[in-house]
Amino acid sequence: MWGGRFAAGPDAIMEAINASIGFDKRMAAQDIMGSHAHAKMLAKQGIITDADADTICEGLSTILSEIESGTFEFSTALEDIHMNVESRLKDLIGEPAGRLHTARSRNDQVATDFKLWTREQYDAAIAGISALMKVLVDQADVGADMVMPGFTHLQVAQPVTWGHHMLAYVEMLARDRSRFQDARTRMNESPLGAAALAGTSFPIDRDMTAEALGFDRPAANSLDAVSDRDFALEFLSSASFCATHLSRLAEELVIWSSAQFRFVTLSDRFSTGSSIMPQKKNPDAAELIRAKVGRINGSLVALLTVMKGLPLTYSKDMQEDKEQVFDAADSLMLALAAMTGMVADMTPNTAQLETAAASGFSTATDLADWLVRALGMPFRDAHHVTGALVAMAEGRGVDLHELSLTDMQTECAQITDEVYGVLTVQKSVASRVSYGGTAPSNVRAQVARWKDALS
Ligand code: ARG
Repeated sequence: MWGGRFAAGPDAIMEAINASIGFDKRMAAQDIMGSHAHAKMLAKQGIITDADADTICEGLSTILSEIESGTFEFSTALEDIHMNVESRLKDLIGEPAGRLHTARSRNDQVATDFKLWTREQYDAAIAGISALMKVLVDQADVGADMVMPGFTHLQVAQPVTWGHHMLAYVEMLARDRSRFQDARTRMNESPLGAAALAGTSFPIDRDMTAEALGFDRPAANSLDAVSDRDFALEFLSSASFCATHLSRLAEELVIWSSAQFRFVTLSDRFSTGSSIMPQKKNPDAAELIRAKVGRINGSLVALLTVMKGLPLTYSKDMQEDKEQVFDAADSLMLALAAMTGMVADMTPNTAQLETAAASGFSTATDLADWLVRALGMPFRDAHHVTGALVAMAEGRGVDLHELSLTDMQTECAQITDEVYGVLTVQKSVASRVSYGGTAPSNVRAQVARWKDALS
């Protein structure tokens, strides 16, 4: 490709470190799409003839079908996908192939190809997150009234509803989705036509290629266009956020499906067995989702580190961008799909959730709130009285509602038997009607809002 300047070919090690074809062949379709747009634009601008453009486009289509059918022979000596395609084009159509690279460089070409590839992954992530949100909303719908313990420090805190807990993840995922959406809007500018770095003296039409490739506009600065990888970094950072959220849900499913908790039963379809212990049913999918965040965060840090301190414009360092994004995208899409399947299939164990919800004196705050509301006691005093009653109940091995009124009155003489009305978990959750609270009525309203938004 640059034989004019070179007397000797590269050392085998040089070829090995330099070649990217092993992975960037994943961008073949995008490379060919970009070349189609470029060739048509060159012809429309009179830079090449219509006949040459037609021949080039036909050749490119043949190459795409060769790649799709697996008959294309990729060559490491040809370094990357761009030169592999161009070289094959020369075999197929001869001289006109050499005109395709007019007013273009591999620098704007690779930026364009990689942007097109990554943009598809933005769309896939947005769709994947939406699908997961839907099954979580369905779980919330079924379990709007279902009580379960709410935790802080993984200690039972207050009763909440299953639906409310599911919707907490819907909120997180909605933010994840909007991060991908925002970044996609920002990244949708075409680098094509920036050429090597400085633009070109040929009368190209960058609006035409931008439009043909679905970009909103051409990138305004050629130096930035060839050296920008923010679109990849923002994809990775959005993926990291999302994977972090998935890992939290995965961890809860691992805990909840354990014999000690038994909050949920995972389906056979999303569980595995043990080769030695016949009784085992393991939450492997949840564990692997929990782990995927490791490699996704790793990809983000890797690419941030590659880009840090790089002078303008293109440096070969940037060839290290693709594998990180490929791997993170594959991991994220798989994690989203697995989580969607697991959540859709899982069964909350109502009885176990209810028993657990009532454990750990979970309605102690309701008792303190009652003392404030019914007796006008300052909250700090109510907290103290309730604490003493919890200690009394704990000492006797009973629950709060199992203390007699006389016992309660030893801590506060004004307590009446009205207090028993707030000590059940159902009453507790039903009373949490403040906006954003766990009451079943709130959950149903939020389920309706999300069903509408996701339809
Ligand atoms: N394979 C290269 C990459 O992925 C393509 C761009 C090469 N550009 C260059 N000036 N050598 O970054």
